[in-house]
Amino acid sequence: MTISSEARLSQQATRAEPLGQPAQPPADSLYQGVEVPTVTGPLTELVGLPMPQCPDTVTDLSMRYRVRRERRPRFPFPIPNGWFIVATADELAPGQVKPLYYFGRDLVLFRGADGTPHLLDAYCPHLGAHLGAGGRVVGGTLQCPFHGWRFDGQSGTCVEVPYDDVDHIPKTATARTYPTLERNHMIWAWHHLEGKEPFYDVPEVPEFHDDDWSPIVVRDFEVASCCQEMAENNVDTPHFKFVHGTEAVPEEEFHTDGHHKRTVALDGAFVREGFGLGLGVLRVRDYTTFLSSTTPIDEEHVHCRWIFTSPRSLGDGTAEAAADSFVAGVSQDFPIWENKIYKDPPVLRPSEKGVTEHRRWCEQFYSYPDA
Ligand code: FES
Ligand SMILES: [Fe+2]
Repeated sequence: MTISSEARLSQQATRAEPLGQPAQPPADSLYQGVEVPTVTGPLTELVGLPMPQCPDTVTDLSMRYRVRRERRPRFPFPIPNGWFIVATADELAPGQVKPLYYFGRDLVLFRGADGTPHLLDAYCPHLGAHLGAGGRVVGGTLQCPFHGWRFDGQSGTCVEVPYDDVDHIPKTATARTYPTLERNHMIWAWHHLEGKEPFYDVPEVPEFHDDDWSPIVVRDFEVASCCQEMAENNVDTPHFKFVHGTEAVPEEEFHTDGHHKRTVALDGAFVREGFGLGLGVLRVRDYTTFLSSTTPIDEEHVHCRWIFTSPRSLGDGTAEAAADSFVAGVSQDFPIWENKIYKDPPVLRPSEKGVTEHRRWCEQFYSYPDA
């Protein structure tokens, strides 16, 4: 393991160049107060305060620092209800089928011949074949590889049993489907533990379709955590000083309103909005706009996708630099997130009331059908 603050400083210098002196402090100023060490190589030992940056751990799960041994569940939450990215739009061509595992379930995603994406539970209602293991797209339906039954992508109902002439197909021959939509170059699926309809929408990010903004830069990674824990990180202002090494605890305004939440900092140059649990849009004036989706894999693991763009006027590479910067920053959170438990009730100081408010806001996104 090598820790090199010099490397970190030279990285900062490289990153700062294409930004062309932005009028406002860049987003990563939140992460740059004191010298933050950079680690290359496996994290075999760890001393925090601040936590070293280790960007390699973002993509290499074997390099994560894991010390927890207890086996009991870390979080008291079910998979939340909400919109989550299940694929990037360019990962799925018309007629393509993709097996997935999200929401603690085996799933199958396909794009119909007309371009519409559909998400279904993976197991065929007939005799349980995995529809993503050899299934074929026929128009807007998915044909099971085992006996050829076809299922409508929208409703999940069986529309054809191709080997007998009995007209009636029982209603039980229906695969569970999930509402899907395509927006911001991503395919989103609505998960609700009780199968209820969406109660909020995925926001359009106009910058992603604006010629004055660069092509999107996508970064993705997995974390052994859950949506609420990762979101709580944003309102936990003291950790910015102790984990990320900011000079002071940042000052933020935090408001919630229905399914929406909003954080404002740096005199309005930094605005983070949340739309449900696990969907955020961050705008840093004169630097970047960044959409984040945290998709539950199961109750204790998530798949994050971060999508960046920057004004073209700031030069080529600015969105990549913003992505690198945020990704380096989040690598400091991993050792905390992947080893912590959800403390309930916590012991909070008066200055940490945002945590309490955020926890209360999160409650609306859970169902407890078995309770
Ligand atoms: S298991 Fe799917 S058609 Fe028989
Ligand atoms: Fe953090």
